[in-house]
Amino acid sequence: MTDTFDFDRYDRIRPIRWTGDALELLDQRKLPFQVEYVTCRTSQAVYEAIHALTVRGAPAIGIAAAWGLVLAAADIEAADGGEAARKLDPAIDHLNLARPTAVNLAWALARMRRKLVDAGTDWREVMTREADLIAREDLAANRHMGALGAALIAPGSGVLTHCNTGSLATAGFGTALGVIRAGVAQGRIAQVFAGETRPWLQGARLTVWELQQDGIMPTLIADAAAAHLMKSGKVQWVVVGADRICANGDSANKIGTYQLAIAARHHGVKFMVAAPSSTVDMGTLSGDAIHIEERDPQELFGIGGVATAAAGIQAWNPVFDVTPHGLIDAIVTERGVIERPDAVAMQAAFGS
Ligand code: MRU
Repeated sequence: MTDTFDFDRYDRIRPIRWTGDALELLDQRKLPFQVEYVTCRTSQAVYEAIHALTVRGAPAIGIAAAWGLVLAAADIEAADGGEAARKLDPAIDHLNLARPTAVNLAWALARMRRKLVDAGTDWREVMTREADLIAREDLAANRHMGALGAALIAPGSGVLTHCNTGSLATAGFGTALGVIRAGVAQGRIAQVFAGETRPWLQGARLTVWELQQDGIMPTLIADAAAAHLMKSGKVQWVVVGADRICANGDSANKIGTYQLAIAARHHGVKFMVAAPSSTVDMGTLSGDAIHIEERDPQELFGIGGVATAAAGIQAWNPVFDVTPHGLIDAIVTERGVIERPDAVAMQAAFGS
């Protein structure tokens, strides 16, 4: 399928552009109403863009951070890669703090540092090449995963997805949305449902818009409609991405994913997690050890500047949750499909 797939037809958006001396990020806070790139010229600007969700989605955060480190390198002098790595450690530590849950951030920064340590006088070129490679590999992984995941879906199926896992969240094509793009192209997926994904509305603002750009017409549902949708028999799979997949297969993803997995199991709907191997964290044994980001309660008090809650109340705003591996039917990475994931299957696939 990958040889004949018309990628340009189904994948046109690029959220991250490197210009040679600056990073341009498609401002995901403003989509779909304004399509605007912001320019980051410093590693601090990249930190702020990640923190503020100008760029978001686990793989995209990692790629942006890698370029953020390249920008930080412009401020230092070093005779070789080892010296540069030591001087860049504060920038690495700072970028790592931008968001806590998606492991792709720390993964990309650690990969950049490893490459740098071994570099000689050409360390600046080595860094630029590595950041570019991280992005290229992500795109290739997504395209491959798309084929692997779509093959699990029977022709004519309906699928439900959550949050945004598409080109906007990656170097391109997407993870769960890549599976969906491939599944639609192959006629396996007849209907795509997208949950709104409160409070930040990644589904309503980003996923629906992104698919529309590529000629795929999804059906938007309120998050609260998911169990009712499953009961109706209109969906056979829930397909989601991940921010961190643990050594036992427990997977962190956007808040609301866990309740989708519970409802899916109750209704006999299959549940797929699609993510690149850069999202796998074999150093975290189970979901209990994942740091779940909690954002400003303010995000729950309104939409687009319009108040939607009574004034003067309290709110709790965790933005990720963990789906236990027992509720996952398949984890799909570019390395293959793990059905009914558990610690043994994860070790076989990702253990060193
Ligand atoms: O808060 P966000 O928008 O960065 O959360 C994104 C998600 O939860 C995605 O599902 C996940 O990062 C996978 S993106 C391919």
